[in-house]
Amino acid sequence: MGGRIPCVCIFLMVCVSSYGSIINAPGVFELLKQGLTEYSISGKQPSYLPYTLMSYPLQNILRHQQDLEATNNTEICILCEILVNALILERRNGMTDVELGAEALYFCNLLQIENDRVCKGGIDITLGIFTYMVDNNEKLTGERVCGLLLHNMNCRGGSLFEWSVDIPEGNTVSRVKASGTKTFNILHISDIHIDPYYTPGKTNNCKEPLCCQFDQDDGANEAESCGYWGDYTDADTPIQTLNAAMDKIVAHNFDFVYYTGDIVSHRMWSTSVENNTRDIIQISNIFHDRFDVPVYAALGNHEAHPFNVYTTPDETDPTLSTQWLFDLTASKWGDWLSEEAKAMILKGGFYTVSPKNGFKVIVLNSNVCYTGNWWLIYEDKDPYGQLEWLVEVLVAAEEKEEKVHILMHVPTGSSECLRVWSREYNRIIERFANTIVGHFNGHTHRDEVLVYYNSSDITQAINVAWNGASITTYSLGNPSYKLLEIDAETFDVWDFEEWTMDLETANLDAKNPPAWYKLYSFREAYNVDSLDPSEIDLLLQRMTKDHSLIDQYYTFKFRNSTYPNTNPCDETCQKKILCDITTAVPTHTDQCERFSRLYDENK
Ligand SMILES: *[C@@H]1O[C@H](CO)[C@@H](O)[C@H](O)[C@H]1NC(C)=O
Ligand SMILES: *[C@@H]1O[C@H](CO)[C@@H](O)[C@H](O)[C@H]1NC(C)=O
Ligand SMILES: *[C@@H]1O[C@H](CO)[C@@H](O)[C@H](O)[C@H]1NC(C)=O
Ligand SMILES: *[C@@H]1O[C@H](CO)[C@@H](O)[C@H](O)[C@H]1NC(C)=O
Ligand SMILES: [Zn+2]
Ligand SMILES: [Zn+2]
Repeated sequence: MGGRIPCVCIFLMVCVSSYGSIINAPGVFELLKQGLTEYSISGKQPSYLPYTLMSYPLQNILRHQQDLEATNNTEICILCEILVNALILERRNGMTDVELGAEALYFCNLLQIENDRVCKGGIDITLGIFTYMVDNNEKLTGERVCGLLLHNMNCRGGSLFEWSVDIPEGNTVSRVKASGTKTFNILHISDIHIDPYYTPGKTNNCKEPLCCQFDQDDGANEAESCGYWGDYTDADTPIQTLNAAMDKIVAHNFDFVYYTGDIVSHRMWSTSVENNTRDIIQISNIFHDRFDVPVYAALGNHEAHPFNVYTTPDETDPTLSTQWLFDLTASKWGDWLSEEAKAMILKGGFYTVSPKNGFKVIVLNSNVCYTGNWWLIYEDKDPYGQLEWLVEVLVAAEEKEEKVHILMHVPTGSSECLRVWSREYNRIIERFANTIVGHFNGHTHRDEVLVYYNSSDITQAINVAWNGASITTYSLGNPSYKLLEIDAETFDVWDFEEWTMDLETANLDAKNPPAWYKLYSFREAYNVDSLDPSEIDLLLQRMTKDHSLIDQYYTFKFRNSTYPNTNPCDETCQKKILCDITTAVPTHTDQCERFSRLYDENK
């Protein structure tokens, strides 16, 4: 998760603090617009600008996603464009990296976006990308930059991200219903976010993007102190917790492992190629030592340095290139893969393997759809030719009547995934819906389901994606993993078990490992005949009538942590859950409307 926006906006200065904010105060917007325009022309800040900036609730909106309803997106897009255009102009007029960095730091501190060291760290590691993009792309405009950074606000620049993939017609294979007569298991784990700097006893109220760090304050009292096994606030996974999880995990039987990304912690203000490499090697070694079966792993947004940024290869400065990560993972994951798959990783971090006859696993690098990947400003058209490749692989699978599972880190559907990528991916899914029998995602740290529907018949569910939730608690959830039961004939997901442990109980006892328990099995908990898309659609319809099923889903989402029990899901929250489950492309709202209507009819 988490690629909250700060690092990008620290640099671009589009985040501003809410101190003294009066939402929609009349005149503030006009004054701000005037001040910024003056600033962008003269290079000098009018005296009223700092105060005016502080009066506008941009930080709440951009960093915490609060006040979204109360704000006018058009205004925010306009301010963003003026600011970014001013920066671009300054650079083009000869401002050096050092000067730009100092200016960014000034604003970051003025507006208290983060504390000084997080501001400095964030600017240090992101400045080079911004200047590279400005220096090497004459067409770069504020419109395009804000179109990406504020993708969820639908700024006009969003429409500049537009392309499509060629998909051959057809669909000759049929889908046979699974019988569950013969099954095998796959382990699905996700989002470990190993934290080598996790220190019990430090404060969990740290006001930085990641708490419980060795170089932060001690906890003021017990409730504010990080526990031995982890913490529900913004804290990642201590090694002892991962080791204890592994002890539990290896006691299960499974034929192979799916890992859906995010190895590196949320200490995003101080990542480096060296330190990310160290953590990726450590996890790869743990996988090699503890599993005697292959691991098929996808890359997460946190593996990159700076976090989120996957650059495309052409003409890229080697200091900005993501190639080190592809080289590293091709070598560390290579034992489990064919030479061909390794060669594909080197090209863009995606590959395919065939672990059983008639069955293919496709591992994608969906970090290139993540809007936090601001390299997309520079180049967004099907990065690495990945979707084009996906179509080729699916055509080949269809011809051989193979069944396919797709793994990726960032799921489609939310506004965090570039709309055009979501849309094109969805077109591919629809075309190959009878070949693809399962999708496995990560990134959200939530145990959740995403249903793909037929765009020409909105009552027809065609595919389902399962999220691996997370080993990390970041934030508010208990650590968990999934044991998938797969039909050996059709490769459909026949059932799965969600395993978890109660962090609060575990932290009472540092000496004994946490007690992991089976939280639920899907078939049993939801009383379904199968996990087919059509059955899941029926379940969703039942949920609109029996809201206790949504409550159960909500509890499971956080793996029965204290959060859902102390923060019940009201009507708005329940409808949002139904919409999240059924929205695979942000602009396709028909399912959200359909289920909201059913919910209202049954009130
Ligand atoms: C949003 O702001 C723009 C620019 O100030 C204005 O034209 C528009 O009417 C506003 N929309 C709403 C709904 O207030
Ligand atoms: C990398 O790790 C070393 C050793 O723990 C630490 O001193 C250094 O600050 C880290 N580098 C960065 C860029 O954070
Ligand atoms: C979607 O619906 C159309 C129209 O009913 C149908 O022709 C097509 O086969 C369906 N697609 C899938 C993947 O089921
Ligand atoms: C959820 O956790 C509580 C303790 O916090 C426990 O009593 C309960 O049995 C758990 N629920 C399930 C379904 O295991
Ligand atoms: Zn994550
Ligand atoms: Zn992630």
